[in-house]
Formats: sequence, C-alpha cells, structure tokens
Amino acid sequence: MMMQRNALSGVPECVLITGATGGIGAALAFEYARAGSRTLILQGRDARRLREVAEGCEAVGARVLTERLDVRDLEALGVWLRSVSLGEMPDLVVAGAGVNIDTGARRQGETWEDVQRLLEVNIQAVVATVHAVLPAMRARRQGQIALMSSLAAWRGLPETPSYCASKAAVKVYGEAMRDGLAGEGVHVNVVMPGYVESRMCFDMPGPKPFLWDAPRAARAIRLGLRANRARITFPFPLSLGTFLLSVIHPAVSGWILRKLGYGGR
Ligand SMILES: NC(=O)c1ccc[n+]([C@@H]2O[C@H](COP(=O)([O-])OP(=O)(O)OC[C@H]3O[C@@H](n4cnc5c(N)ncnc54)[C@H](OP(=O)(O)O)[C@@H]3O)[C@@H](O)[C@H]2O)c1
Repeated sequence: MMMQRNALSGVPECVLITGATGGIGAALAFEYARAGSRTLILQGRDARRLREVAEGCEAVGARVLTERLDVRDLEALGVWLRSVSLGEMPDLVVAGAGVNIDTGARRQGETWEDVQRLLEVNIQAVVATVHAVLPAMRARRQGQIALMSSLAAWRGLPETPSYCASKAAVKVYGEAMRDGLAGEGVHVNVVMPGYVESRMCFDMPGPKPFLWDAPRAARAIRLGLRANRARITFPFPLSLGTFLLSVIHPAVSGWILRKLGYGGR
C-alpha cells in the first residue's frame, strides 16, 4: 500500500514533528505546510513558539494540532503518540526533539545531571517515539519515520562527547530499524545534518564550518525523505570529511580535529 501523498507534489498528507519549536523542527513544519501537507501535528514545550509556528503553518493553509509535552515524560509521550497515531494516522513522523550539552568554557567536563537529561531526550525519547508510532504504521503497512541524528555521529568531538554518542546511537538504531522493517511498508530514515542555524547550534562551542540556514536544511530533509534515502546527510563537504574521520585511525583523526580547532589542548 502506498503512503498517503498529495498526488501533485508528492508530500505526505499528515506530518508529525517533535521539537517543532526548534530551528530545524519549525523550518520543517513550514517546509511541509508550504509544500502542501494538509495536517501538521507539532510538539514542543515553549507555548509561545509553538503557537507562532502553528500560526505560520495555518497561514499557508495547513490544519495544525499542537501538543505541549516534555518528551522525558516517556509515559505521557507514549500515550499521546499512540492516541494521535490511531486518530490522525500520520504518514511521516519526525523525531526531532533534541538537546546538546558541552564540556564547558573551562573544559571542566559535562555534569552527570546534564548527561542524564541529554540521554533521556536524545535516545530514550527517540526510541520511545518509534515504539509508540510503529504499531499503527505496521498495521497499516505504511508510514515513514525520520530520526534526527547528526554528522557528529561519525566521530566524537572533544567538546560534546555525550551529544556525539547519543547521535551515533540514533544513527545505528535507525539503520537497524530501517532494514528490519524493509518488507513491511514502513520506511525509517536517518537524518545527519551538519551545522544548521538554531539555538542549539549557536550555544555549541567550536568552529561551525559550512553553516546552513534552517529553511535550506528543511528542504534537503524533505527531498531526502521523499526519495526515501537511508541516510540524509548534508552539506556534502562536511559529510565527506566527517565520514573520513570515522574510518581513519583515531589518533590521526584526533590530531586533525585539534588542527581544525576542536579540543584545544
Ligand atoms: N542545529 C544543528 O546544527 C544540528 C545539527 C545536527 C543535528 N541536529 C539535531 O536536530 C534536532 C533539532 O535541533 P535544532 O538545531 O533545531 O535545535 P533547537 O533549536 O535547540 O531545538 C530543539 C527542539 O527540541 C525540543 N526539546 C528539547 N528538549 C525537549 C524536551 N525535554 N521535551 C520536549 N521537547 C524538547 C525543543 O523544544 P522547546 O524549545 O519547546 O523546549 C526544540 O523544539 C536535534 O535533534 C539536534 O540534535 C541539529
């Protein structure tokens, strides 16, 4: 069975996005609204920003449902997603909510509380999202799930060890799930952006080569999802560079990263 897609534009009719109040999530919401998706289901915590994004999407004709929720509340997340999966039957679910932490201005290291929060949002909530939406998609034998990883998944950066590890976990999980679900009509895609303008990106220490704006990233993601690419990576030079860093000896990649301004000492 084919996904519900707008016949002219090839866009999914109903799109659910977690982290829709963020730089990339909001840009994705606008991208799908402008492309012709009929219904957008948007999650975030920031009520004002959620309303702004919803109004922007409604202004171009989309019907928008919003949900204010902390994704660390896995119980509430599961209840909401299962209910909306049955009621609205999203064709595409983007697990985009994410946080970043770093080792600090004086490289004092990550705090355990921050690491725990990051693992809850970046890994547990992502896997919980998949578990909650998958049964309905499997039953319908259609659907698409996009998991937000990062080019940071290829090679850990000294400033953001837990973030890189969380994104590597999402990448590997997404690839495995994609292959496991290949025969069931459910597509899983791993999205690996480079640096994209957002609050998270600007808060992050270290150089930000090949920085993209969020609308450009959103377009690349939508086109990659439309083509059902296993990995949606951009921009190309950073994608190639980070991939190569992951296959050479770690002592050499560490040396290269220091030369590029990561790690410092
Ligand atoms: N920007 C980049 O350079 C970049 C590169 C690679 C991958 N990514 C990934 O892309 C995704 C979006 O990031 P972004 O750059 O758009 O960052 P952002 O602007 O900081 O947005 C983060 C989003 O996650 C939501 N979120 C965070 N913690 C949450 C929680 N506990 N419960 C519910 N929602 C929560 C935020 O909601 P509220 O603000 O409403 O709390 C916001 O919508 C993330 O998974 C990130 O790791 C970003």
